[in-house]
Amino acid sequence: MGSADDFLRRSQSPAFTPVKRVRPEDSPGTPAGKAPDPELGHEVIDQRRYFSAEFMQLEWEKMWTQVWLLGPRLIDIPEPGDYEVTEIGRESILVVRQEGGGVRAFYNVCQHRGNRLRAAGLGSTGDSRSFVCAYHHWEYELDGSYRRIPDLDTFPQGCPKGGLKEVHCDTWGGFAWFSLADRPEPLKSFLGPIPQHLEPYNLDRMVQTRDITVEWNCNWKTSVDAFNESYHVQGIHPQLLYYLHDLDIQIDCYEKHSRYLIPFGTLSPRVRKPPAIPEPIKTIMKGAGIDPADYDAPINNIRRDVQKHKRQYGKTQGRDYSRLNDDQLTDDYHYLIFPNLSLNVHADDFWIFRQRPHPTDPDRMFYDILTYDLVPEGQEWPERVRHRNWKHGDKSIGTVLDQDAANLPGVQAGMHSRGFGGLWIGRQELRIRHFHKVLDDYIYGPGGHPPGAP
Ligand code: FES
Ligand SMILES: [Fe+2]
Repeated sequence: MGSADDFLRRSQSPAFTPVKRVRPEDSPGTPAGKAPDPELGHEVIDQRRYFSAEFMQLEWEKMWTQVWLLGPRLIDIPEPGDYEVTEIGRESILVVRQEGGGVRAFYNVCQHRGNRLRAAGLGSTGDSRSFVCAYHHWEYELDGSYRRIPDLDTFPQGCPKGGLKEVHCDTWGGFAWFSLADRPEPLKSFLGPIPQHLEPYNLDRMVQTRDITVEWNCNWKTSVDAFNESYHVQGIHPQLLYYLHDLDIQIDCYEKHSRYLIPFGTLSPRVRKPPAIPEPIKTIMKGAGIDPADYDAPINNIRRDVQKHKRQYGKTQGRDYSRLNDDQLTDDYHYLIFPNLSLNVHADDFWIFRQRPHPTDPDRMFYDILTYDLVPEGQEWPERVRHRNWKHGDKSIGTVLDQDAANLPGVQAGMHSRGFGGLWIGRQELRIRHFHKVLDDYIYGPGGHPPGAP
């Protein structure tokens, strides 16, 4: 067995040269400056929150029913009567385009005997523009009021007041958002700095290219954690070390949300013997219009050269990068919108990974993959993909996500073990600690902790 010194030496991060980043003053759109790290201590995170039915119930009452949640994309429900159903825990929410052009949201439940009005997903009410419950044909207007109740005279008590139960609905970023709170804070205040950060991207010029839901055997937070730290790249995604700098990642924690900025198009310092240009970096170069065969500068220059090339030629390719800083032309600006949206935002595409809790089982969840690609100016707008539901393991969801998916059930199983003492969090995992702190703020009040915790 080696000495303690040997152990420490073997366990050190490799030395590295930091990547060159834009100066905050050169980023007029999305702020690029580093937010001060919050002081969140070093305590373990109690693993019982990942499987306890009691904690699941607390989350529902104090958090899920208080926050704002992502609903449909507005261009997907363009006509009066178009709707989308989003399921969250035991609830199912119907967001409906109104006659006047706005959107409203309702619990997706018939007031007669509780039948679901519509199945999950996108749909249209058709020409009659009303919602008819399939059970006894109670019929609702698009604004949730009653249109017709068969044999209403046989209900001496009349009908329940008001029609469908409405929930708060607002829009931002081309999406509808809803909140189950009685009196939610305004959406814009809930989102904090996110609109300012994301508005410079051309999200409204992006077409949906993936719309997949996979059921996973883990708690929703086990999955959120996995998408908000980069430490596991060297563990389960070794191929990404030939594509990104996993040790020079800027982490920014805001009030509820957080982000990290990952340099793409460069090598990790963990790669000891750099090969010729790795294939994934060649793909980035080709995407920018650079032929890797003609490139003879050092690999470390590629990221900057791709940025320069995109800046120079973007316009001729119909891509407007004018509001993005240079780093945004290559890097992953990765946001967590509390509680369940991980966004990978790039100049030419935008991915949303959404974790939704299972209705009853804390050991299961639904993982939504929603991706969007920039449609260059002058090109025809392609049709969006259709939604698909998969069981875990049915099909590949891409190498990197397959690696995450394969890993998570094992993490969830370990949470239940008597041989595990709680989550031991390092600096690279600061966003996880911050996420749990925000969750605790909802559940136990601002600055609150679980009972018995320090
Ligand atoms: S449950 Fe909907 S009409 Fe009876
Ligand atoms: Fe991962």
